[in-house]
Amino acid sequence: MRILTIAKEIQQQILEEKKNGKSIGYVPTMGFLHEGHASLLKKARKENDIVVLTIFVNPLQFGPNEDFDSYPRDIEHDEKVAQSALIDYLFYPSIEEMYPDEVSVKVTVQHRTDVLCGRKRPGHFDGVATVLTKFFNIINPDKVYFGMKDAQQVAVVDGLITDFNFDIEIMPVETVREEDGLAKSSRNVYLLEEERACAHELYKGLNLAREAALHGEDNPEKLVSLISNHIMNYTNGKIDYIEVYSYPELKPLEKVSGNVIIALAVQFTTARLIDNVTFLVHNDTN
Ligand code: PAF
Repeated sequence: MRILTIAKEIQQQILEEKKNGKSIGYVPTMGFLHEGHASLLKKARKENDIVVLTIFVNPLQFGPNEDFDSYPRDIEHDEKVAQSALIDYLFYPSIEEMYPDEVSVKVTVQHRTDVLCGRKRPGHFDGVATVLTKFFNIINPDKVYFGMKDAQQVAVVDGLITDFNFDIEIMPVETVREEDGLAKSSRNVYLLEEERACAHELYKGLNLAREAALHGEDNPEKLVSLISNHIMNYTNGKIDYIEVYSYPELKPLEKVSGNVIIALAVQFTTARLIDNVTFLVHNDTN
């Protein structure tokens, strides 16, 4: 594994690899790698000649009152994970390398952002789209891998790739969960012991709603109530949102049918957790 920190250097390396006919799989991350990231790396390793991992905590996607400063970082641990995933290149740039001057051009995401985390975190997806545009230009991958835990991010990046004509295939990868069902996340370390003990109830609530929808409940509000009652009964978390949309369009549904996402965010003492389920509801017209 080669560790590089200078954009021009990795760009040059990848260019050489491509000249030699190698396919490039890319896994963008903000580090503090867990099994969710490892599953992306594993899939990328299987499907490409060369695997590139980036680790960069991107200040542009954090709001002024968000956790940029306290976002967990552990590069030594991350290097070990990257080594054992047999990746070829780890690109680990500094903020100065990515944003040497005041940012003069930013990408603005127009659709799919006024719901879920996008509505709660204004400018977040602009920051994600801006840094990914830079990384896509630096790395020029054939395939890029994202976890479905951030299903809205997958939908937004899908739009970025289409709108900006990047010749990249997006590869969504299923959420990796703890044994009790809690979605793996870098932020889980911030849960208090008693919060960690009940955090799996978020996924349980989502599954109750999915089952209800698959058994004919087509009223989105009823599905939301089912989940919110469950979370309020079994956790001390404060519900930020529970929403039901078509996927990947993220349009509101009068009746639950077709490809659907139910997503939620719940605030615990110092950790805000997100999770979702996506599934297909068959009805007479589809
Ligand atoms: O999902 C993340 O970790 C980040 O949003 C990403 C895609 C690496 C962009 O900074």
